[in-house]
Amino acid sequence: MNDTPLGNGPRSTGALGHETLASVVDLRERVTAEVARVYIGDVAVVQLILAALLARGHVLLEGVPGLAKTTLANAIARALGCDFRRIQFTPDLLPADITGTYVLNQRKQEFELRRGPLFAQVVLADEINRAPAKTQSALLEAMQERQTTIEGESHRLPDPFLVLATQNPVEQEGVYALPEAQIDRFLIRLRLDYPSPADELRMLMTYATPPAPVQAVSELAELLRVAGLVDEVHVEERVLAFAVRLVIATREHGRVALGASPRATLGLVRMARAWALLQGRDYASPDDLRTVAPYVLEHRVMVTTDAAIEGSSGAEVIDDVLRRTPVLEAGHAERSAPNAPIWAERQG
Ligand SMILES: Nc1ncnc2c1ncn2[C@@H]1O[C@H](COP(=O)(O)OP(=O)(O)OP(=O)(O)O)[C@@H](O)[C@H]1O
Ligand SMILES: [Mg+2]
Repeated sequence: MNDTPLGNGPRSTGALGHETLASVVDLRERVTAEVARVYIGDVAVVQLILAALLARGHVLLEGVPGLAKTTLANAIARALGCDFRRIQFTPDLLPADITGTYVLNQRKQEFELRRGPLFAQVVLADEINRAPAKTQSALLEAMQERQTTIEGESHRLPDPFLVLATQNPVEQEGVYALPEAQIDRFLIRLRLDYPSPADELRMLMTYATPPAPVQAVSELAELLRVAGLVDEVHVEERVLAFAVRLVIATREHGRVALGASPRATLGLVRMARAWALLQGRDYASPDDLRTVAPYVLEHRVMVTTDAAIEGSSGAEVIDDVLRRTPVLEAGHAERSAPNAPIWAERQG
């Protein structure tokens, strides 16, 4: 899951300094270790969620029931010292049930705001595609704007604000498929898989006696300070150009009906910055882009009906795009990109 070697120690080009970078790696290690006490599985999952939070993005979590999605979300929130709420989305859930509403205080004879579960730093939105479109869009507005509208008035949401949403497979009954425009709002998608036999055994042994509750291993101020460093991570122009070429390649791919959006390009670079920072570097490399690209891009790519029938998926397309797209040196003219003629054909 993780191509970038871990534990190489902080590496600085001078923008952030060795000590600052070491403190980020230390935060990563503390959080990963604390979460690993209750969540048995790939630590890369924890680090990707942490990177998404630092990049001020949101996460779509996919996986069959019982894969510890709730356990994981709760543990990450607690380890980071954030408050945590879980919202179960149902067909009768109204926007006000998640955002909040004004209620009459009998004693004071005035209306006061009762904040909904959206006002938490980490929100697990379970089975979002079971709720009607209105409620989904209230959640998506909150994710994008980091504020929510209650009775025409906007209210700022907490900082940090991370939504982890789970989605049911669309084949199920009573499920409203999320439109592409909404899927695009998620910085990354993580597909949780069954644990390995060794991990499943370790889980049994871990839970033979209930593990102690997850403790906060970071303070909010530290988390916000580190999130503030993401913008300082340097990305060379040739790496930015590589990101653009990757995204364009998804749009031009023969098996794709709808490729990744410019929002995806921004997300790709932002996620690569956050990922690099968590590895203790103050610059993002093409390898950082390659590492995060599947998580940022796969869910935003819609394959053609024919390709879908043949069993193609976004994952296959991104794999293909990553294999075919080279990193070109700075100054290389974009018009000479190998994909240009295909685009011209489509336009004509
Ligand atoms: N990888 C794992 N590590 C630790 N515990 C696990 C793991 N997988 C499953 N479990 C255990 O399985 C149980 C179910 O986990 P949890 O409720 O977090 O799953 P979920 O994915 O949220 O399920 P659902 O889809 O039904 O909401 C918990 O007791 C949890 O501890
Ligand atoms: Mg759950």
